[in-house]
Amino acid sequence: MPSRVAAVIVLAAGEGTRMKSATPKVLHRLGGRTMLGHVLAAAEELAPEHLLVVVGHGREQVTAALTGKARAVVQETQDGTGHAVRVALDSLEHLEGTVLVVPGDAPLLTAATLRQLVDAHVSSEAATTLLTARVQDPTGYGRIVRDATGVAAVVEHKDADEQTRQIDEVATSVYAFAAGPLREALGRLRTDNAQGELYLTDVVGMHRTAGLGVGAQVAVDPDEVRGVNDRVQLAQLARILRDRIVEQHQRDGVAFLDPHTAWVDADVVLEPDVTIAQNTQLHGETVVRRGAVVGPDTTLTDCEVGAGAAVLKSHATGARIGEQASVGPFTYLRPGTVLGPRSKAGAYVEVKNSDVGEDTKLPHLAYVGDATIGARSNIGAGTIVVNYDGRAKHRTTVGDDVRVGSNNSLVAPVTLEDGAYTAAGSAITEDVPAGALAVAREKQRNIEGWVARKRPAAGEKKS
Ligand code: UD1
Ligand code: CA
Repeated sequence: MPSRVAAVIVLAAGEGTRMKSATPKVLHRLGGRTMLGHVLAAAEELAPEHLLVVVGHGREQVTAALTGKARAVVQETQDGTGHAVRVALDSLEHLEGTVLVVPGDAPLLTAATLRQLVDAHVSSEAATTLLTARVQDPTGYGRIVRDATGVAAVVEHKDADEQTRQIDEVATSVYAFAAGPLREALGRLRTDNAQGELYLTDVVGMHRTAGLGVGAQVAVDPDEVRGVNDRVQLAQLARILRDRIVEQHQRDGVAFLDPHTAWVDADVVLEPDVTIAQNTQLHGETVVRRGAVVGPDTTLTDCEVGAGAAVLKSHATGARIGEQASVGPFTYLRPGTVLGPRSKAGAYVEVKNSDVGEDTKLPHLAYVGDATIGARSNIGAGTIVVNYDGRAKHRTTVGDDVRVGSNNSLVAPVTLEDGAYTAAGSAITEDVPAGALAVAREKQRNIEGWVARKRPAAGEKKS
């Protein structure tokens, strides 16, 4: 039975000036979610009774981005991490049990690590259990000062002497606290430090001095607790997250031809025996079914790729690609595209808001918008569905077993019934009945001797 978590408090009121952005720091994205989104997803897995996000800078934007059961608590002035937690705890009057504190800008934290911290905290009956990390360069971090019995205090970099600054074990801003002793210590915090702030880190020393239990866990993977202060670090963490996501898919049976050029968002679903080729980006809620091959050079956002389908050098958003279907190269699928089983959207084909039936082919150079096309039809090269008259969009309906000749314009609204054929070069403005051939172009005439009469110099070499 996992230990109960009464509340998770996410610290997200800071400004993040070094991002140099109009977007609040915790709303910058990696792996298809905001930093805060990753933290909230990990926190939600612990099923806390309360999930509070302390907001301050950019509070409207941050509050609007909250998901699930997360609730914003406003910290009017950023008087320090201890103050932030106090503001959150003040909104939970009779709370008892375990309070987990996490920073909103540590997107690689996993639920498993948080779970371990909480379990260690509960079984040791400590007042405070903090997550620490050993880092190469501890500059800027709070240092973990240990003595014979354990963690004695956390000393902020700006308050530390030279000897303390040598310590490479640092505070991560991840803690499990017992609610009562936390509330008591927060009430006693003081600002007599280098930054004139209420430091959450001081709770550690206060609990120790009071003779309460203080425990510490060293993070197994120090990358997990890395925070983001600027865009360099954001990109570094994005790459670590990418590696983590890709590796998990590999373990689950997905082949990556070049893992270092594949970017897969956290919420993407890949079934076993999928192959992801070089330089492929899979975003949003994309799902790729068994045996499908995606890439190289492909970007899919919120797409579903059916079993055994192939998508080569293409760009698609909001499209459903049927099983065994073939897409690309150089194909652009826009929202509302549904390609049936074994259908084909080939080179230089754009499709939008259209249903393409099973075994139907759009082999090359076509635009299909706002159309419904049945099964086993073929749309000739160079065909344009003229769906827009400058004011409104209209629908085109093409039945089963239809052959649209090359270089046609299908001027919507228009219907081609089952088995209809159209001649190459036709501009189809009228419905075509089942089984009919539509010829909608001027008949060719050849004017004998025209060149000799009108261009007597033709054929002579120009100097
Ligand atoms: C803090 C810790 C430090 C630790 C480091 C790890 C303190 C005093 N120091 O330092 O020991 O090594 O994190 O990342 O706790 N925040 C608020 N309200 C505030 C101030 C901060 O919500 O008034 C939030 C920030 O948005 C951020 C988090 O708290 O998400 C940490 O604040 P930050 O200013 O980054 O603290 P550090 O100086 O990095
Ligand atoms: Ca920080």
